[in-house]
Parts: sequence; structure tokens; C-alpha cells
Amino acid sequence: MKVGIIGCGNISETYFNCQKIFNNFEIAACADINTEYAIKCAEQFNVKAQSVDDILSNKDIDLIINLTIPSAHKEIIIKSLKAGKHCFSEKPLAMNIEEGLEIQKLTSEKKLYVGCAPDTFLGAAGQNARKLIENNKIGKVVLGTFNLMSHGMEHWHPNPDFFFKPGAGPVFDLGVYYITQLINLIGPVKSISSASGTATQERIITSEPRNGEKIIVETPTTLLGSLEFHNNAKIQFFCSWDVWKHNHSTIELYGLAGSMIVPDPNFFSGDILISKKDEDWETINNDSMLLGIPNKTDNDGSKIANYRGIGLSDMIDAIHNQRNARCSLDLALHVLEVMEGIIKSSELKEVFYLNSKPNQPKFLSDDEIKNLKI
Ligand SMILES: NC(=O)c1ccc[n+]([C@@H]2O[C@H](COP(=O)([O-])OP(=O)(O)OC[C@H]3O[C@@H](n4cnc5c(N)ncnc54)[C@H](O)[C@@H]3O)[C@@H](O)[C@H]2O)c1
Repeated sequence: MKVGIIGCGNISETYFNCQKIFNNFEIAACADINTEYAIKCAEQFNVKAQSVDDILSNKDIDLIINLTIPSAHKEIIIKSLKAGKHCFSEKPLAMNIEEGLEIQKLTSEKKLYVGCAPDTFLGAAGQNARKLIENNKIGKVVLGTFNLMSHGMEHWHPNPDFFFKPGAGPVFDLGVYYITQLINLIGPVKSISSASGTATQERIITSEPRNGEKIIVETPTTLLGSLEFHNNAKIQFFCSWDVWKHNHSTIELYGLAGSMIVPDPNFFSGDILISKKDEDWETINNDSMLLGIPNKTDNDGSKIANYRGIGLSDMIDAIHNQRNARCSLDLALHVLEVMEGIIKSSELKEVFYLNSKPNQPKFLSDDEIKNLKI
């Protein structure tokens, strides 16, 4: 399938490069509201630079990859659908559930596909953890925790403003990986209780080129509370950009027969730790599994697995075979409702009950991965 990218910023390189990993799409053109960015990417990756309007009316392109900032996601998805194109968007799907439902309505009217990141839960660690849970290695999951804490994004991203506006913050920007992973592992969420805080109303950029500029914080930078899942598991969470240092693990799940530590869901691999009742931890390394084999050098020099694009490739296969995609609109809408519910519960100081209840995405087998990989 010929696809086009709208949004040629920081993450676009990863998407341009992922066409070398998966076999069912080719990036033919790119666009950005800032023409210079589109021209730069077009030169670097040997594709055509177009205006946003021209890429949307480009008859050769069947799908748009939406890599714009969160506040533009809905607009670009709706424009893609109106132009008769499928759309795969970076997370979050939209700013709130109302926008998400508008996308859902048009998607079904147009009989097109909309999919959404994150797709990291399809990686070796997420799929192996799912298999271990389904094989009853820790028994029924009844409790758990997830923790993501750091001191924000203004020290590395060249344009970090959007992280501190509605549609981002630690839950919409990073919690999205943890929530999606948990739905992959134990199914959909039923209700939410949360509290929020903002340690400082301003942040100072320390990355280049805008070092020293101020950002006004417009969304809470700490959210904590608990999620109750439809399987009755209760998961406590702590999402913050106000913490310098901590010693919690990313996701811990407690079952009737043992415990499991799931690695950072922002990555495709990493070790799973598992215990039988109170016995010692057993380490399960996932680096030799498909979608776990290190293929990239990270900023700190370590080798990591980065197979971003698997969700897009799976969706294109789903379009060809008229089946449900794993990074589906139903899943993204539910994750969006959970994220909005976390904010709303903290604002209203009451329990938030969810309306949406998608199926767990189907397990991704080795044969299916081999079918999509070059
Ligand atoms: N940077 C990362 O490491 C990373 C990782 C995973 C996901 N994401 C997600 O990807 C998305 C983009 O992130 P980024 O870091 O690349 O941001 P960015 O600010 O670097 O790039 C976004 C680009 O979109 C363009 N844009 C904004 N509004 C537009 C519009 N209406 N029409 C056309 N172009 C428009 C901007 O000019 C910019 O070039 C975000 O939703 C983010 O959450 C980023």
C-alpha cells in the first residue's frame, strides 16, 4: 500500500525507517504545516514533499500516517477519512472522547480503517507476558501497580510545549503505553479513582534550540490513583513528571499463584521477572524473540528493539484481509476514555465509570510476524 506522512517532526524518522522492516507499505510522500520540515524529510528519505491539501488529494495514496501534535490529531484523521483514505495515528487518538466518537462515526460511515499507536504491546515482552498470563503461570491476576515518573520532557525534546498542554501530560503522553499494555494483558478497564497535582506552573526548557524559554503548564503533571478492570483486578498507578528519582518498577502484576514484573511498555523487549508464589524471581529474557531482537542503538549507546510500525503493518494486513486490526479504533477509544477518565475523576473527586469495553487485541503469532516482516 502507498502511504503518506503528515507531520514531519521528531518521531517521523522512526516511521520513515520502519518501511525497511515491514513488507506491505511504501511511504510515497510527506507533508507538514511547516513546509520546510516536509522538504527536509522528503530530501532525506527520497519521497515527494507536498502540502497537506495536496497529499490528501493524492490519488496514489491510500493511507495517511498522522504524526502531528495531539491537538491536530482529530483534524488530520477526519480530513484523511473525508479524502477517502485510511489513517494510522500517533497517540493519543484525540484530545477527548467526544472527538474520538466523532472519528468513530465517520470511520464507520466511510467504511475505512483508523488505527492508533502505541503498538509496543505487540513486541516480544508484551506478547510473552500475555502468553505467560494466559498459561496461568501466576494464576488469576488480582492486583498490580504501574509507575512512570521522571522530571518531564523539557530537557530533551526540541519543541516540548505540547507535553504540558491538554492532550498530553504524563498520562496522555506516556501512561497511554502502560494502559494499552495492561488491556493487552488483562482486558478492559471498568472504573477509575484518581487525584492530580501540578508541582510548578512553569517549566524552563533546557534542551536546544530553545534553552531558557518558559512553558506555562496547562495540564496536571502528576496523576495517581487506581484502575479497576472488568476481570476485577485492581491496579494502583502513579504517573508524574514532578519526580527526580525513584525506585519503583514499571508494571507489577500480582496473581493468585505468583507475581510478574513486566518491563517498560514504551519498549518492545526487556526482561520479564516471574515468581512462583514467594519463590525467587526467574528472569525471562525476550531478546531472541521476533520483535525483541535488538535492531537500534539508543541515545545512551545501548542496543534496543524498536519495531514501531508493526501496528500500522498489521492494520494494512487487516485491510487487505478484511479483519480487525490489533491497534484498532475500538482499543484506542477505550484507552482515550481511560485517560480522560483519570483526569475527570481527579477533577470531580468521584469514581469514573467507563462506557467502552473492547475485546483484548488478538495474540500476535510468530507466523503472522514473519508474514509482515521483510
Ligand atoms: N518524539 C517521540 O519520541 C514520540 C514517540 C512516540 C510518539 N510520539 C507522538 O508522535 C506525535 C508527534 O510527536 P513529535 O515528537 O514528532 O512532535 P513534533 O512537534 O516534533 O512534530 C510534530 C509535527 O507536526 C506538525 N504539525 C502540527 N500540526 C499540524 C497540522 N495541523 N498539519 C500538519 N502538520 C502539523 C508540526 O509542524 C511538526 O513538524 C505526538 O502525538 C507524540 O505524542 C512521539
